[in-house]
Amino acid sequence: MRALAAEIVFIFSLQGATFHEDVLPILEKRCQRCHRPGEAARPFLTYRDVRPWAKAIREAVLSRKMPPWFAESGSVRFANDPRPSDAEIAAIDAWVRAGAPEGKPSPSPPVHWTAAWNIPPPDLRLAMPEPVRVPARGELKYQFIILPLNLTEDRWVRAAEIRPGAREAVHHVVAYIREPAHDWLRDAPAGKPFSHAGTTTSDILALYAPGQQPMTCLPGMAKKIPAGSDLVLQIHYTPAGRVLEDRTSIGLVWARHAPDKRVLTLQIAATELRIPPGERDHRVSASGTLPNDCLLLGLFPHMHLRGKAFEYAVIEPGGRVETLLRVAPYDFYWQLCYQLATPLLLSKGTRLRVTAWYDNSPNNPRNPDPTAEVAYGEQSTEEMMVGFFDVAVPAGMDKAAFFVR
Ligand code: HEC
Repeated sequence: MRALAAEIVFIFSLQGATFHEDVLPILEKRCQRCHRPGEAARPFLTYRDVRPWAKAIREAVLSRKMPPWFAESGSVRFANDPRPSDAEIAAIDAWVRAGAPEGKPSPSPPVHWTAAWNIPPPDLRLAMPEPVRVPARGELKYQFIILPLNLTEDRWVRAAEIRPGAREAVHHVVAYIREPAHDWLRDAPAGKPFSHAGTTTSDILALYAPGQQPMTCLPGMAKKIPAGSDLVLQIHYTPAGRVLEDRTSIGLVWARHAPDKRVLTLQIAATELRIPPGERDHRVSASGTLPNDCLLLGLFPHMHLRGKAFEYAVIEPGGRVETLLRVAPYDFYWQLCYQLATPLLLSKGTRLRVTAWYDNSPNNPRNPDPTAEVAYGEQSTEEMMVGFFDVAVPAGMDKAAFFVR
């Protein structure tokens, strides 16, 4: 009875729902990260921006299409789960059904998105020295650009953000940290884009892909850039129907103190893919045993257009299996990272298993060719199976040392 009374009061309180009082705070908190000038989606800042889209907004939140999020609810909670609460959805619903009134502007001013960056003002900003011209059509090989940092001492990075220039044509960007002892791409000139294929063991500093949030570390943790390192950008351009010029930039925020823990990005991948033509539910699994203790921070599944679902599970030394994340449906057009609300200690000897499912049938509307047998490859018409995961290790440990058993 008391619950019912509370509900009635709640419904009554929404009857006079207005844009300024009830809806704007939700948009600020849940939507404007992407829905503002300079970001991926149309601005939802003012009443004027939002009014014509009121019904679409109601529809998008009721159907949970927006904000994008694909983790099935399980025991693990994620720090970056953007989904509005039931009360927030009810407030938007009530507002639209009341005719989407504006109401009086609230005395506290709206969030003012001044900076272009979604991280604190960067200590170091780098941009590609010259723009890359992206043709209107066709497929492009991955482009690489080496950006020298000229650091004379080690630096710890607590946040980093990659900002694409021509967003429409930038499918993804990965910024690698090439340490001075690393031979990778040593013969290539700095500052000039070139194409290249192949993999590296260099740590990833940050990446950009649709829906990705910037790299930010928890207090006491950071990514390390050893003195003498370069950044290497790997950019996948996908022509957008008109010629565009891209000059992508990256901003880095230094940690103020040396951290206790170093953050590393690791991956488990299957490169021997063979997805038969027409197959509706092709399953691929790969696993790795952790050579040392680490704290698991985040998960980032990656597949292409035939990707259907993706799962991470830990198999403890005793054999107990725990599913950490199940992404279903997987959506190639949203490449999201799932950050654990509470970092999880994985002890040495724990097996981490990633499983991917592919739909290569004609029922998959995104399937470029259901008659093809699909193998591993960089282009979206080929497939990938990579389970990236971020871990924290003692600050003095690097990737090589982590893999010493
Ligand atoms: C991670 C970025 C992101 C967040 C967060 C986000 N959106 Fe979106 N939204 C997009 C993008 C990009 C599009 C346009 C392309 C598309 O539909 O795929 C879009 C499209 C829409 C559309 C359709 C309008 C159109 O242009 O076709 C609506 C309505 C919408 N979003 C509502 C919301 C609401 C409401 C929220 C917050 C509760 C929200 N979105 C949060 C990125 C985002």
